[in-house]
Amino acid sequence: MTSWQLRKKYLEFFVGKGHAVIPSASLVPENDPSVLFTTAGMHPLVPFLMGEKHPAGKRLVNCQKCIRTGDIDEVGDQWHLTFFEMLGNWSLGDYFKEEAIKMSYEFLTSEKWLGIPVEKLAITVFAGDGDAPFDREAFNIWQGLGIPEERIFKYGKKENWWGPAGETGPCGPDSEMFYITAKPACGPDCQPACSCGKYVEIWNDVFMEYNKTAWGKFEPLAQKNVDTGMGVERTVSVLNGYGDNYQELMKPLVEKIEELSGKKYTPLSLRDTSPCQVEEIIGSMRVIADHLRAATFIMGDDLGIAPSNVDQGYVVRKLIRRAIRHGRMIGIKENFSHKIAGVVVEIMSDVYPELLKNKEFVLANFKIEEDKFTKTLQAGLSAFAKASADKKKISGELAFNLYQTHGFPIELTKELASEKGLTVDEQGFNEEFKKHQELSRTAAVGKFKGGLGEHTEQAVKYHTATHLLNAALRQVLGPHVFQKGSNITEERLRFDFSHGIKMSAEEKAQVEKIVNQVIENDLPVNSVEMTVEQAKKKGAIGVFADKYGEQVKVYSIGDYSQEICGGPHVERTGQLGHFKIIKEEASSAGVRRIKAILE
Ligand code: SER
Repeated sequence: MTSWQLRKKYLEFFVGKGHAVIPSASLVPENDPSVLFTTAGMHPLVPFLMGEKHPAGKRLVNCQKCIRTGDIDEVGDQWHLTFFEMLGNWSLGDYFKEEAIKMSYEFLTSEKWLGIPVEKLAITVFAGDGDAPFDREAFNIWQGLGIPEERIFKYGKKENWWGPAGETGPCGPDSEMFYITAKPACGPDCQPACSCGKYVEIWNDVFMEYNKTAWGKFEPLAQKNVDTGMGVERTVSVLNGYGDNYQELMKPLVEKIEELSGKKYTPLSLRDTSPCQVEEIIGSMRVIADHLRAATFIMGDDLGIAPSNVDQGYVVRKLIRRAIRHGRMIGIKENFSHKIAGVVVEIMSDVYPELLKNKEFVLANFKIEEDKFTKTLQAGLSAFAKASADKKKISGELAFNLYQTHGFPIELTKELASEKGLTVDEQGFNEEFKKHQELSRTAAVGKFKGGLGEHTEQAVKYHTATHLLNAALRQVLGPHVFQKGSNITEERLRFDFSHGIKMSAEEKAQVEKIVNQVIENDLPVNSVEMTVEQAKKKGAIGVFADKYGEQVKVYSIGDYSQEICGGPHVERTGQLGHFKIIKEEASSAGVRRIKAILE
């Protein structure tokens, strides 16, 4: 089975069960200040899990691009990936446990679909604790389907609970499905929760039946949802008997790396008894393939993210630089990252056409970044070797110097240190960093793990203000103005738009005046669902028009603005406060950036 076939089968199966296919959302969440990336399929759907009506209905299915950087140090082993695709079916207050589990079972075991023998499946369910009881219902349903009791394992929150998205919100017990490999058990207590490789998780059904309150209580939810997630790469590997993720979708990347380095990749089978012993060269090859694929997807995601020292750009920089270092370690001397990226574009564009659209931008950025880093890498490595000799700990000062002078992300320094059995004074690094405040501290050390975001009152206000700004800019500067990006924090909105030249003071004042006038008029904010065509006919704007499929939601602010958007928004503009532009600057060629606040 190929990943292409798996995606097709999954979507087909759930369409057959009344689900509407929705496209993958962007890898960078819109209007969610709390995280840098979409980390799970549920992320873009949070408003709908909280009760907003989704234009495509209550049963959805998708294949969502995800980035997880929390386990980045684990990449290089068999299964951890930074970028991955997650297949998911969704019930937004529609079906619940019984139907969800039965559908999972049918898809996994039926000959028509994946045809996995039932005896190859192990299941986990929530064991219960002080917040919520044992999920007897899920247990019984699985048992009723023929999974014997000894293959249904019970675990606590750490293993079998998902959510909430932020501090509060929908969450619930989950039930995970594991493939039992032919690998011998690691001992008499070998279970799905152990990481020896005997059990490989392939799917997770989350039953969002609770709402976590601000006081940490779990209350039953009025709208019960189902959120499921199946990792494409891992499931395909398991179905084919591959013992790692690098033999199908990633294979062309590995082959390119073999060609460039002259080294050989040794694939693992699911039967291998000691696959955790990764040879260094193999580990490096996996890091290169994984990191450059992830960086290609982030830069290829329509938003024009390039390597930089802040936010998503900094993650891209870290990924590329780590991959380059591993490339040099296995003997690749030439500028190579763009070549691997070229292969990613070639093999993934049929599913993600944005990669082809942004190919030039992506490849150019890889070349520039690799050139830049190659210039300082050798000197940095020598500086590290010299300064770390006879030491047990790398000082914050040295780590910061490597960062500032040689462009070594702190993670790279940590990796070099751990290879020599040393630790890094991260706190010292952070202090140095603070002292030299040219760069954003959050980008370097925070936000890297990140949970999912919340739609706080202030963020919602900024969201509505962004629509007003968009409309006012078009009114003042002209209809060539289109949204190129948007980011909202608790403190401000940031809006990127197409416009070639600096705005004059008069233009800025005029935009502010218009927005404040609309706020003062206290216009109602309403949303109506319609098809993309109808929305366009009505003159609604919105760059993300294709994201929600056929039906879209159009938010109108009185007669002043009409924009395709998923929400949420305030009810009336009078709730916003006073609007003020605090900065107008260039973002990239032909794109300006405004930062504005509500006072
Ligand atoms: N949110 C759950 C997960 O990521 C199921 O989709 O595993």
